[in-house]
Amino acid sequence: MGANLARNLASREGNTVAILNRSPQRTEALVAEHPEAGFVPAVDYAGFAAALRRPRTAIVMVQAGAATDATIDALVEVFEPGDIIVDGGNAYFPDTIRRERAVRATGINFVGAGISGGEEGALRGPSIMPGGSDEAWRTLGPILRSIAAVAEGEPCVTHVGHDGAGHFVKMVHNGIEYADMQLIAEAYDLIRRGTGRSPAEIADVFAEWNRGELESYLIEITAEVLRQTDAATGVPLVDVILDQAGAKGTGAWTVQTALALGVPVSGIAEATFARSLSSRPEQRAAAASLPGPEATPLAADEAAFIEDVRQALYASKIVAYSQGFDEIRAGAAEHGWSIDLGAIAKIWRAGCIIRAQFLNRIAEAYAGEPGLPLLMTAPYFAEALARGQEAWRRVVVRATESGIPAPAFASSLAYYDGLRAERLPAALIQGQRDFFGAHSYRRVDRPGAFHTQWSGDRSETAL
Ligand SMILES: NC(=O)c1ccc[n+]([C@@H]2O[C@H](COP(=O)([O-])OP(=O)(O)OC[C@H]3O[C@@H](n4cnc5c(N)ncnc54)[C@H](OP(=O)(O)O)[C@@H]3O)[C@@H](O)[C@H]2O)c1
Repeated sequence: MGANLARNLASREGNTVAILNRSPQRTEALVAEHPEAGFVPAVDYAGFAAALRRPRTAIVMVQAGAATDATIDALVEVFEPGDIIVDGGNAYFPDTIRRERAVRATGINFVGAGISGGEEGALRGPSIMPGGSDEAWRTLGPILRSIAAVAEGEPCVTHVGHDGAGHFVKMVHNGIEYADMQLIAEAYDLIRRGTGRSPAEIADVFAEWNRGELESYLIEITAEVLRQTDAATGVPLVDVILDQAGAKGTGAWTVQTALALGVPVSGIAEATFARSLSSRPEQRAAAASLPGPEATPLAADEAAFIEDVRQALYASKIVAYSQGFDEIRAGAAEHGWSIDLGAIAKIWRAGCIIRAQFLNRIAEAYAGEPGLPLLMTAPYFAEALARGQEAWRRVVVRATESGIPAPAFASSLAYYDGLRAERLPAALIQGQRDFFGAHSYRRVDRPGAFHTQWSGDRSETAL
């Protein structure tokens, strides 16, 4: 990531880039491989600092955790007040808040910047989510704008908010990415097991979907992966890949943070847990003999079934993004960040993994109503959900009847129904809590808190 980001920076008019790696031979190799970049190599931190014009800007691209702390400490030793240290790795946002506070005390600016787009994005133009101070942004803005992806003429970078805001938003971006990928995987599984179509045939379905409202990078690469044949065996590559999904932790952080904030990101949580479930081979082997329904084709009318799955995917995707933006809103309120949700949707339109046409609709929704309480209630999305909900229900019913797991589809639908319900059984839960713990409850017809004397005469007391 660091090498490609440095090459990207060096390729832009007016930029000269000094580079430093803890292994000098890697620095030398990069300089030798890319003479066109005109890199200024450094062998130590003092040399690196001496090579930079003031205010100095360093972009750190190392592993999150101890490696990032060690690199920041070394830079603080050689930088001066007013200089800027940018952590472009995938740091956990509380670490960024801590580091920002500590570095700021030295007079040096610290910016945690989420960078999405993988190695290719780093080279050609990523989506960048910087936090940090307004002062740092004044210097950093033009630099980051010069290397970011461009969507419809606009660079995919914005000053997200102060201290850890950038890494917070990058974390939620990754959580949404988990949900999006899981939903696509469930759609593939349903079509495959429901119609018996081959991966290559399903690749055609995804390629077709990519020409409509689902158009996105993840749908596009899904078609590519499904079309790939394994050179060694001649079978579809997807059939020889071990079905145990890995994770680097950002999905789990998104869910843990949402739990702490009390924000129901159920689609992202299901996607994260689905990866965990897949990676439990011993439990899966032990459970393989548990009974389920007989395998029967799901669809009498294949084309209609596939269209239902497409609509279920779109509806569930709206829920996943709505939940993710809800978490950003809640995080901003908790941490005192002023985050423009429409601007976040815009910087995700290009460069990053969840880039999609759909993000324009999100930006429009927030432009239309900046205080929108829930994305899925914006007119465009409410209408799309109304159009898709019958298909969505049919798909979840069929998956359930057939014993095909579709946790993200099902939980997204339950979230949708939970929010639109006039009454929820939460009333009963309040009654239970009052029964065993005297936790009290509120009533629909009078203000105040109440307790029923459950172990006594069952009269009600106003508290
Ligand atoms: N790969 C992606 O698609 C992607 C996307 C977004 C964000 N990120 C984030 O970007 C960061 C870098 O990822 P990467 O994929 O580029 O990793 P990488 O290829 O493994 O490179 C890690 C770099 O960190 C250096 N390093 C490791 N430990 C260090 C230490 N203790 N002190 C100083 N330097 C140390 C390594 O030096 P040596 O060369 O000497 O080993 C190497 O230059 C991570 O935070 C990652 O989460 C990655």
